[in-house]
Amino acid sequence: MRKVVVLASGNGSLLQALIDAPERGNQYEIVAVVSDKPKCFAIERARQAGITEIAISFQKSQDNQWQQHLKDTVLGFNPDLVVSAGFMRIIRSDLFEVVPTINSHPSLLPNFPGAHAVADALAAGVEKTGATVHFIDAGVDSGKILAQQSVPVYPNDSVQSLHERIKMVERIQLTQVVVKLCLQEDIWAGLH
Ligand code: GRF
Repeated sequence: MRKVVVLASGNGSLLQALIDAPERGNQYEIVAVVSDKPKCFAIERARQAGITEIAISFQKSQDNQWQQHLKDTVLGFNPDLVVSAGFMRIIRSDLFEVVPTINSHPSLLPNFPGAHAVADALAAGVEKTGATVHFIDAGVDSGKILAQQSVPVYPNDSVQSLHERIKMVERIQLTQVVVKLCLQEDIWAGLH
């Protein structure tokens, strides 16, 4: 069984999908949830599921130390895979070179990278946007794409309604990718 560390910052509904997937406990074990926000609901979800949770409060003035602390904490669990599921920090260490690390992003990358992908898509007036799972690299939402699915934008959409429609796709897509990678003999193989 593969060991997975999940990184999350907010509500944690993507984390919940990974917790609820029937494959958990079979193909993968979530050995820890690591957050930059001690009071976020993702931490609470981990607690309720009996999963080890660790919060490393982010301090901008100590970014280098924080990045190192994040890396050391994650590696301390000896994971096979790291999943960024609504983690709102850029990983600036070389963690993603040491352990395969993936992210779910709420747009059809390479369109609309960054923290405001849903609002940016809405402002651009596109008819469809979507959800992407990709490997994390040194750029912002620029790593190799593993899966992508489009989501329609409706004329009366708000950022919230559109984001919720995207997240419905993200929850399923991310779980499928995690299961697929965990079944691969070499998780890195997906990167080449
Ligand atoms: C997702 O749309 C994810 O792609 C983005 O933040 C959202 C997380 O949602 N980075 P939740 O906290 O898992 O509900």
